[in-house]
Amino acid sequence: MTTAVRDSWKSRVGFIFAALGSAVGLGSIWRFPYIVGMHGGAAFIILYLICLFAIGFPTLIAEILIGQKTQKGPAEGFQELGRSKLWKNMGFMSVITGLIISSFYSVVAGWTIGYLIQAISGSLVQFRSSSNAKLFFDQFVSSPGLILGLHFLFMAFSGFVLVSGVRKGIERGSKIMMPLLFFVLIILIVRGLMLPHSWSGVRFLFQPDWSLLTPSAFAMALGQAFFTLSLGQGTMTTYGSYLSKKEDLLKSCLPVVLLNTLLALMMGVAVFSIVFSAGLAPSSGPALIFETLPIVFSQISWGYPLSILFFSLVVLAAITSQISALEPAIAYFRDHKKWSRKKSTIITCCISAALGIPSALSFNSWSGFQIKGQNLCECISFFSVNILVPVGGMLAVLLVGWRWGVKSALEELRQGSQFFEKGSLLSQYFRIGIKFSAPLFIFLVLLDLLIS
Ligand code: PHE
Repeated sequence: MTTAVRDSWKSRVGFIFAALGSAVGLGSIWRFPYIVGMHGGAAFIILYLICLFAIGFPTLIAEILIGQKTQKGPAEGFQELGRSKLWKNMGFMSVITGLIISSFYSVVAGWTIGYLIQAISGSLVQFRSSSNAKLFFDQFVSSPGLILGLHFLFMAFSGFVLVSGVRKGIERGSKIMMPLLFFVLIILIVRGLMLPHSWSGVRFLFQPDWSLLTPSAFAMALGQAFFTLSLGQGTMTTYGSYLSKKEDLLKSCLPVVLLNTLLALMMGVAVFSIVFSAGLAPSSGPALIFETLPIVFSQISWGYPLSILFFSLVVLAAITSQISALEPAIAYFRDHKKWSRKKSTIITCCISAALGIPSALSFNSWSGFQIKGQNLCECISFFSVNILVPVGGMLAVLLVGWRWGVKSALEELRQGSQFFEKGSLLSQYFRIGIKFSAPLFIFLVLLDLLIS
């Protein structure tokens, strides 16, 4: 790979693996269950699914299309379609958002490396009660040196994957990783559901109680839908820019959305069957999966190898997401500064690692520093996922729907896919989504956040 030649996917399959790798990660495995737990279960899931399919999916197509049409990253791509410097700055903003996301993402991914090491040492299979598992997690995150070290280690792994050429292999590896992840989840679900009172967890997830919905649920549902599809921060535009113009976006994107959603829901069942059986609080926050899954690992006969397999897969899934969050900044440095891929990657990883330090310290040395009861990491995650990401997504749909024009966008889509034929249901869905529902809904959510 040289700086002069743009990278490209050799085939649609390459793109699907990369997009799937980007989408499936801590968003559906770690974040989805705890956000659902904090916002009342089933009613929130329904809201989330509406956001995902009515807003997220059209936005995903729009973001990829910007890259595919211009063959450029977000800053240049936005400029070309928006025909002004202002649009370029807006595109650039999404690159910054990606860097902020990657910073706290790496901290949580560092926890999963820590848990993988604990799994190997056999520590995750010896919990007799839920309070032990909770205490274990609290002690684990309380060491600033360890958490910082794991954060840097994860960042170094991601940087290595980005420069070493093993990246394609890792992405293609999802052919094996995904089925394995589903396999482990099925075992966890089956065993979880055999625990006493576990079905209350299933009811919590699938029987809506609208009174449990909090006012902030809309913003959370939208933020999570965008986060899990890696939207609003340049990733999908950058990946689209490596995609040939003839590719069928529907066929490439639909499997990504469906598989990712299925995985998140399965994770929900696995986690909440344990939560309700062990009498834990569903709303216990970012620690949720770390405090629950070890309880099942401790009770099943194959708990030891399964705990290792599970956390290895989570670490790998987090790496394929992290590299996609870093890629827009790397592409930006390559295109603008004409730096080599290696130099761009090292500098991007260093910036992101430095940005992650406050998040790493917010569960220990800086835990006293809180805003409205939230520590720094939670604040950074809230600000980026619930504000910056929706703003980035809104800019992309406004660009495609109103500036470039939905008509031209549809013509472009038709080049690769017969599903977007004039008057077809899909093209109406896309037209209405991009032009009206997505911008309007995002605007309302942001307005609500602003005034509440
Ligand atoms: N979608 C990823 C996940 O769910 C997170 C991510 C967000 C990755 C934004 C890249 C960009 O884990």
